This record gives sequence, structure tokens and C-alpha cells, in this order.
Amino acid sequence: MTNKILAIALLASIALAGCSGGDTPAEHSAADRAEGHTSSSAGLPAGHIAAGEKLAQTKGKATGQSCVDCHGAEGNAPIDETYPKLAGQYYDYIAHSLQAYRDGDRDHPLMSSQAKELTDQQIADLAAYFGSRKGSLQDLHGMHHD
Ligand code: HEC
Repeated sequence: MTNKILAIALLASIALAGCSGGDTPAEHSAADRAEGHTSSSAGLPAGHIAAGEKLAQTKGKATGQSCVDCHGAEGNAPIDETYPKLAGQYYDYIAHSLQAYRDGDRDHPLMSSQAKELTDQQIADLAAYFGSRKGSLQDLHGMHHD
């Protein structure tokens, strides 16, 4: 019962985040982690943290850099203040963002090319990994860079 309500609230917040382009539902992530959600409302396969950790350190073809090269160790120490922290971010938010970059619904010169080659399984693994890290969130709200 509670799970169902949570899931609905979750879906609503994802829809909102998708439309506003960066409003992070940070207040849900602790509860979400505690419940161990690793499945996505977006129909992704189950994510595997260990696989995601490996992939996060693998250099991408497009940029020649890995996720952690830009977002920092465990997604917690971005190399630029305009780069978002990923550690502890909501699983669904990460997965949704990566799908949006990959599919062209969200556009950024670095992230779009980085996400282009990701499979659904890799997106699920990366979201599981970064979502499972402890971290202080920093969303993009109010950061208007091109
Ligand atoms: C070359 C640097 C770079 C690399 C490599 C990189 N990112 Fe990013 N990432 C960025 C920047 C810059 C943004 C902000 C883009 C924007 O404003 O839309 C971003 C945004 C994101 C977001 C959206 C976060 C939010 O709060 O909206 C996610 C999720 C993400 N990256 C995950 C990843 C993953 C997973 C990888 C590895 C597959 C990766 N990134 C590799 C630079 C990078």
C-alpha cells in the first residue's frame, strides 16, 4: 500500500523533473535507498552496483573520459562547480537523465555524446552505482550555464 503511493509520488516527481529540466527530488532519495529500490519505472532491467562501479571508471569513446573523471570519485567531487554531483542521487533521476541524453530529449555537448552508446543495462548499472553512494546532492537549479 505505502509502496504503491511512494511509487506514484516517485513517478510524479520524475515527470516534474523531466519537464523543468533539473529540479532534483533529493528529499526522496534517502527513503528510496533505504527501501533498496533498484528497479525503474522506465522499464529498465535491474541495475547492478558492481558493474556500474566498473563502468563509471571506464573511459568513454566519445569524450575519452570516464564518469568519475568529470563527476569525481563516487560521483561526489565534480571537477567543475557547474557539473552535478551524482552520489546519492535518486536512481530513477539518474536513469531518466541518461536515457534523455542518449535519446536526445536532453541535450548537452559532453553528456549527450557520453550517453549515446549506453545500453539500457549500462544505464541501470550506472544509476544503481551512483545512487548507492553516500553524498551531498547538488542539483542544477539556478545554475544557468549554456
Ligand atoms: C566530460 C565530462 C563528463 C563526463 C565524462 C560525464 N559527465 Fe555526466 N555531466 C557532465 C556535465 C557537464 C553535466 C551537466 C550537463 C547539463 O547541464 O545538462 C552532466 C550531467 C550528468 C547527469 C545529470 C545530472 C543532473 O543532476 O541532472 C547525469 C545523470 C550524468 N551526468 C551521469 C554521467 C555518467 C553516468 C557518466 C559516465 C557514463 C558521465 N555522466 C560522464 C559532464 C560529464
